[in-house]
Amino acid sequence: MSPSASSAVLSQDSEQLKLFHSKYPDYDEEEHELPLWIEGVDTTYAPFIPTSTRRVVLALEMAHLKSSDVVLDVGSGDGRFCYAAVALFGAQGAMGIEYEQDLVEKSTQLAQDYVDQGRISFERADLTDWRQSSTMQSKAWSVIVVFLSPEGGTDMEEWLVQEFERGVRIVALIFDLKQLKGLHCSVEDSQEGIWIYEKQGCI
Ligand SMILES: C[S@@+](CC[C@H](N)C(=O)[O-])C[C@H]1O[C@@H](n2cnc3c(N)ncnc32)[C@H](O)[C@@H]1O
Repeated sequence: MSPSASSAVLSQDSEQLKLFHSKYPDYDEEEHELPLWIEGVDTTYAPFIPTSTRRVVLALEMAHLKSSDVVLDVGSGDGRFCYAAVALFGAQGAMGIEYEQDLVEKSTQLAQDYVDQGRISFERADLTDWRQSSTMQSKAWSVIVVFLSPEGGTDMEEWLVQEFERGVRIVALIFDLKQLKGLHCSVEDSQEGIWIYEKQGCI
């Protein structure tokens, strides 16, 4: 059985953490109609349902994010994983791929300081084109975040297993990736819906 999640590495009093929570609201299903569809746009692998900021932090703690890491979020929504990775965990860099232009613009605005520093970027692209994507074929990433429908994981299986095999940690949200036989889950918190896949034993 995989060990489960633990800790709270970041101080709750941290100004950076407070800023993160205030920039990226948790959408209350009673107040907002979820998922947040944007009319007329095809989001093949999942609509925009952002991860709560608390779970973003927990997931990155479970992945033991560190300053040498470079993160890729496939289907990055409003960019909260990229922002947290760099602003809270000091990751070297982060990039989000997102289909919806509005969300790419919003992500860029919210992370503007880090975008200007060249540490965060967002690309408007369709993940179904993963074979042709120079971003996804890049070997720059050490952590990949996946919060997509199971179909998304299955369609990108070859890529995810290849990245896992070269030592990339994969953070899966809500849907685990157990259908991908080549992956090994090293840490999980199934109540929170967070699974970390890493090749080298347990982290
Ligand atoms: C469930 S949301 C997750 C957002 C973010 N990663 C988070 O955890 O808050 C999935 C995101 O994937 C995007 N998406 C879905 N299908 C896509 C595709 N084919 N190409 C690029 N982005 C896609 C959606 O627009 C949405 O923003």
